[in-house]
Amino acid sequence: MTNTLLHFQEIIYTYPGQDNPIFVGLNLSIVKNKKTAIIGQNGSGKSTLFLLADGLHKVQKGKIYWKNEELKYNRKFLNRWRQRIGLAFQDPEQQLVAGTVIEDIAYGLANLQLPKAEFEQRLDDAIADFVLQELVNLPLHNLSLGQKRRVALAGVMALKPELLLLDEPTAYLDRRQTQNFMQELDRIHESGTTVVLATHDLDIAYQWADWFLVLHQGQLVMEGEAEAVFSQQELIEELQLGLPTVWQVWQALPKHLRCSENISVPRTVSELNEKLSGTLMQHLSQSRR
Ligand SMILES: Nc1ncnc2c1ncn2[C@@H]1O[C@H](COP(=O)(O)OP(=O)(O)O)[C@@H](O)[C@H]1O
Ligand SMILES: [Mg+2]
Repeated sequence: MTNTLLHFQEIIYTYPGQDNPIFVGLNLSIVKNKKTAIIGQNGSGKSTLFLLADGLHKVQKGKIYWKNEELKYNRKFLNRWRQRIGLAFQDPEQQLVAGTVIEDIAYGLANLQLPKAEFEQRLDDAIADFVLQELVNLPLHNLSLGQKRRVALAGVMALKPELLLLDEPTAYLDRRQTQNFMQELDRIHESGTTVVLATHDLDIAYQWADWFLVLHQGQLVMEGEAEAVFSQQELIEELQLGLPTVWQVWQALPKHLRCSENISVPRTVSELNEKLSGTLMQHLSQSRR
């Protein structure tokens, strides 16, 4: 438990006005410095989990811990809680509150009551880190969804959270933006912030994460590294979860092309190409001998 940042213990949660609970006795931990992906189909409970983690919804039963401290729902406590746990919403429109880009980032920072110099430094850094220089004075409603997402993320990162929860972060990004964003995530991870990604996009999760939590109808049905999770063929089919494309292509290859020594399963198309041309060359040179 020592490396656990966030822990859900026996959580029961039903949305107001609903008959059926989303979570019934959910137990789940988020571990420090592990690139974690929470995967599962739409409606499996990923967003609700994040909203509970950030104290935006209140559990009916069970406890949520940050390290050993239990979440309480008074304003002062929540303010402190949300400085450690940053949440970027699935829909950036729900997150952005102010008129312009710079006002929005400053709004969140103002809550920290920092000395003026540090406040300004953090504002400048957030703008530079997320390449928002040309957008700073634009009204938020003039931005594309992808740009809004960058602003929302800049606002969250300016608070320097220890844990960053990202809900479907690539939903509004095109391919190039997605790849840039994944690099950005690596940068955030390397800077020491633990990043958790919730996504129904298995390709994105598979490319990036070291650890996978699979949610299905509000239950944690599997947890582990990529190989351990995605090789559970029967369960994956039963859940109709699907498989990452690169994983599927790799598994479909003849075994002798996959099984050279020390070869790990590729995570991206370019890794797949690289490994495949490596093993093909090896194979050709062997068969010529
Ligand atoms: N505000 C809400 N009120 C009632 N039910 C909701 C609300 N938001 C989500 N749900 C329900 O909770 C379940 C989990 O949803 P959600 O957490 O959004 O899943 P995911 O993010 O994995 O798609 C779904 O059945 C969804 O319909
Ligand atoms: Mg969601």
